Amino acid sequence: MKLFDSHAHYNDEKFNQDREEILNQVYEEGIARLVCAGYNLESSKKAIEIAQSHDFVYATVGISPNDIPNFENEQIDIKDFFFQDVFLEQLEQIKELAKKEKVVAIGEIGLDYYWNKENKEEQKFSFMKQIEVANQLQLPIVIHTREAVYDTLEILKHEICPVKKGVFHCCPLNLDLIKEGLKLDFYISFAGAITFKNAKNAQEAIKLVPMERILIETDSPYLAPEPKRGTRNDSRNVKYMAQKIADVKGISLEQVVETTYQNACKIFEIKY
Ligand code: NI
Repeated sequence: MKLFDSHAHYNDEKFNQDREEILNQVYEEGIARLVCAGYNLESSKKAIEIAQSHDFVYATVGISPNDIPNFENEQIDIKDFFFQDVFLEQLEQIKELAKKEKVVAIGEIGLDYYWNKENKEEQKFSFMKQIEVANQLQLPIVIHTREAVYDTLEILKHEICPVKKGVFHCCPLNLDLIKEGLKLDFYISFAGAITFKNAKNAQEAIKLVPMERILIETDSPYLAPEPKRGTRNDSRNVKYMAQKIADVKGISLEQVVETTYQNACKIFEIKY
């Protein structure tokens, strides 16, 4: 079986002790491709480094809503100035990184009102600016959205930044978001949450998305699926997401593995 983990963070410090070992292991155990996602400048550089030293790894670069510059404690009138100044300089660097070999998308980018409610305007600004960069470079975007469904969709539908294609990474099991995302031709990437016994809407969400729009991911080292919940996640666990989708859709595991592999190659323009 050849699996594609569409989103993992081997650039995370939780892999500092055994990064090479674990990458070799996941490859040997059937993870034929994976995308290592950046979330700030440093992790984006690291993702590229890992991708360039492992044939089966690809990278995304971007600044997540939880990693944008934060001047919360500054006076309000100088806050905006600081923010734009620092952010736009980082954006230039992201743009340069995005031109490097094996970078397949801008991400993860988006809005997160769960962890950060105080800087919504800054989050929207940085989301839109990074969409602009993706459009300029003709790259897809990888979206992180948490408790910000309405604003996320508003930006994605906005004609000032017409997005061509992208992925809802670790897609929230919000049926309205999924329906709207599908209308915009986005891919829906399911993570460990669909395997949790108490997951609300998991079945409905899976049923809603046609097979040709589904990706699977681990978001390693976080969010390990059942039955590995609570442990450090790695790409080998992506098989549990595939199995859950197979069960809900009433198709074979092989079919889910094959189709999600093809889908990921298509959206990230990776040779099949
Ligand atoms: Ni992630």
